[in-house]
Amino acid sequence: SPCGPIIHGLEDVLIKNTSISDIDGDKGILWYRGYRIEDLAQHSTYEEVSYLILYGKLPTKKDFEDYVSRLRKNRDLRPETIEVIRNLAKAHPMFALEAAVAAEGAYDEDNHKLAEALRLGRYKAEEKELAYKIAEKLVAKMPTIVAYHYRLSRNLDIVKPREDLSHSANFLYMMFGKEPDPLAVRGIDLYLMLHADHEVPASTFTAHVVASTLSDLYSAVAAAVAALKGPLHGGANEMAVRSYLEIGDPSKARDVVEAATKPGGPKLMGVGHRVYKAYDPRAKIFREFSKNYVAKFGDPKNLYAIASAIEHEVLNHPYFQQRRLYPNVDFWSGIAFYYMGVPYEYFTPIFAVSRVVGWVAHILEYWENNRIFRPRACYVGPHDLQYVPIEQR
Ligand code: CMC
Repeated sequence: SPCGPIIHGLEDVLIKNTSISDIDGDKGILWYRGYRIEDLAQHSTYEEVSYLILYGKLPTKKDFEDYVSRLRKNRDLRPETIEVIRNLAKAHPMFALEAAVAAEGAYDEDNHKLAEALRLGRYKAEEKELAYKIAEKLVAKMPTIVAYHYRLSRNLDIVKPREDLSHSANFLYMMFGKEPDPLAVRGIDLYLMLHADHEVPASTFTAHVVASTLSDLYSAVAAAVAALKGPLHGGANEMAVRSYLEIGDPSKARDVVEAATKPGGPKLMGVGHRVYKAYDPRAKIFREFSKNYVAKFGDPKNLYAIASAIEHEVLNHPYFQQRRLYPNVDFWSGIAFYYMGVPYEYFTPIFAVSRVVGWVAHILEYWENNRIFRPRACYVGPHDLQYVPIEQR
């Protein structure tokens, strides 16, 4: 570029120091606050992982109980927000989620108090306490927004949250109105743990950009939801399962993979990653979970069989090998959801239900040393053109 190098897509550009999560893209390793995700996936829960991400350390028993009880008390939504969801009941749930997060923030006094303090340059103990309080509200309320939308989209009465159920069990309960199957709860909880943070992908970067203007926490999260919606980012989990449904039969995998290697051909959804140049460690865990899930409940739509066949082709095709493209988290994550009865439009919203904690943790981290994001573009058009009145053009 005439003005200097352009970093297309900000590849490898560093925006800050962080101690929230770390990715080793060559080896395929992901840590949250220093803990390997395999360890957390095996031993922890979303409630504990969200605490870890937000507060930086694993909770003591007492801190954990208090945190969980605050989350459970904060689950329900304002009537205004429920109306917003009702009005968007026929829209894709990601639109409803964007709007409902903004609506919830519009009427939250804590949100306005914090935004005002930040505007006045105050971000001390009192304001941080407020920020954490809002963060917890967001973590608590996101599943409710998604579940209420599901109910209203199907002309069903909403099911109010239950304080005696865990984050994941309550989410499934609010969606389907009955006590969920323990393996389904484990599947959702695993999904929520594995999506809780991932350094600074497009949605988290968007959250930083909005938060850096000192807009407000809810608006930053609403913007992050908007970025997550895209098929190149969080929307890939929906697209992957939709493509398996369209493909219908594992014997077609070879042709589908071949088509994706042609110039201008459709990209394979759930394959490739900006940072991982190895098998995505989250995808490995989901591959295993999906395998166990279909072993127990069957694979009537061949989703697992098709995904396995595509994976086999991808791993053995020179196009994908040369470019170091492997299945990513979205490749496997939707299969069990689909068989649990979660419609595919709700896969990306559930990603947001999890990632909200990463978004807010990053915003709070950035506010410790805030500076507005304001990059430059290199102008390559003409200058000083003569204005011509409309009749003379
Ligand atoms: N299918 C076919 N070719 C691909 C794919 C794919 N899924 N992904 C990348 N490529 C090719 C791409 O065409 C390019 O080829 P060439 O060098 O010949 O031009 C090369 O690989 C490098 O790709 P890129 O587009 O420069 O990579 P990027 O870092 O800009 O994009 C990505 C990363 C994840 C957006 C991309 O791999 C992609 O579109 N994948 C499919 C969508 C997807 O699964 N997204 C979820 C990402 S992980 C979870 C999340 O973030 O939400």
